[in-house]
Amino acid sequence: MAFPLHRPRRFRRTETLRRMVRETRLSPDNLIQPLFVCPGRGIKRPVPSMPGVAQMSVDKIVAEAREIQTSGVPALILFGIPERKDAIGSQAWNDDGEVQRAIREIKERVPNLAVITDVCLCEYTDHGHCGAVADGDVDNDATLELLVREALSHARAGADIVAPSDMMDGRVGAIRRALDENGFANIAIMAYSAKFASAFYGPFRDAAQSAPQFGDRRSYQMDPPNGDEAIREVALDLEEGADIVMIKPALPYLDLIWRVKQKFNVPVAAYNVSGEYSMIRAAGINGWIDEDRAVIEVLTSIRRAGADLILTYFATDIARKLQLGQ
Ligand code: PBG
Repeated sequence: MAFPLHRPRRFRRTETLRRMVRETRLSPDNLIQPLFVCPGRGIKRPVPSMPGVAQMSVDKIVAEAREIQTSGVPALILFGIPERKDAIGSQAWNDDGEVQRAIREIKERVPNLAVITDVCLCEYTDHGHCGAVADGDVDNDATLELLVREALSHARAGADIVAPSDMMDGRVGAIRRALDENGFANIAIMAYSAKFASAFYGPFRDAAQSAPQFGDRRSYQMDPPNGDEAIREVALDLEEGADIVMIKPALPYLDLIWRVKQKFNVPVAAYNVSGEYSMIRAAGINGWIDEDRAVIEVLTSIRRAGADLILTYFATDIARKLQLGQ
């Protein structure tokens, strides 16, 4: 005899009543804005496959950092596009590289913004893979040493958090040890723990000019059907010293965000990746969906699944709208 005693519609009747029983909140505090840093001055070069996203030189990045701060978003994550690439990605640990200079400038001019850096080699290698290649595949243990150099260089420049996204085994432990031994015990690690070999990274590889020149990333990024393995990857990263664990992409893997949050109860990040962004933008630009509503619905669902933090190209824009109470 539930009905008519119970009428769930009673609390759906007005916006005020709906607000009172709303279970999940989306706040600018939950968001992280990704940015692409390129060489040069005064450059803001739009990424064709990601309308609204641009590669920016360091001076423009600083201006953008101010906008991020004003929007209420607390953090950004930097990806670098170097002047030149080589087989081991040596520009990744150039203390005067684009990312390193951007970190220093942001920390000086917009000091309250948390600066996260993506630690990976795919943007820096001429073959586009995420590490040193030997016999046609990425050499795990040789790559660890290169990632450590990159993470230390970011830490020296003043990064608050380093985020290894390469998916090499043992990289979180190697980076943690190196940070601790070099006086950076307080720099946190956000590990891309369960990063899948996904079709949804396509537009990013345009933006970061990091598409592999041969083969694909399936020998190091995870196989999309595997959920239990994602749990093991997260457990390993936590053992090795990760402070935040990440699931990537977000929408096709909401079940894993949920499982990881329930099982480990640690800070969980989810990456709403480039393909997820471009799909919504494309539909929005064409007038096929109400873009702002779609974005808020998607980001709220990622929060509801258990993510504390969401990396999203919509961050600054949607944070402004959230602040206006839209
Ligand atoms: C690798 C990296 C990638 C992304 C973040 N870090 C791409 C890849 O693995 O090819 C993807 C982000 C996105 O698609 O938005 N350094």
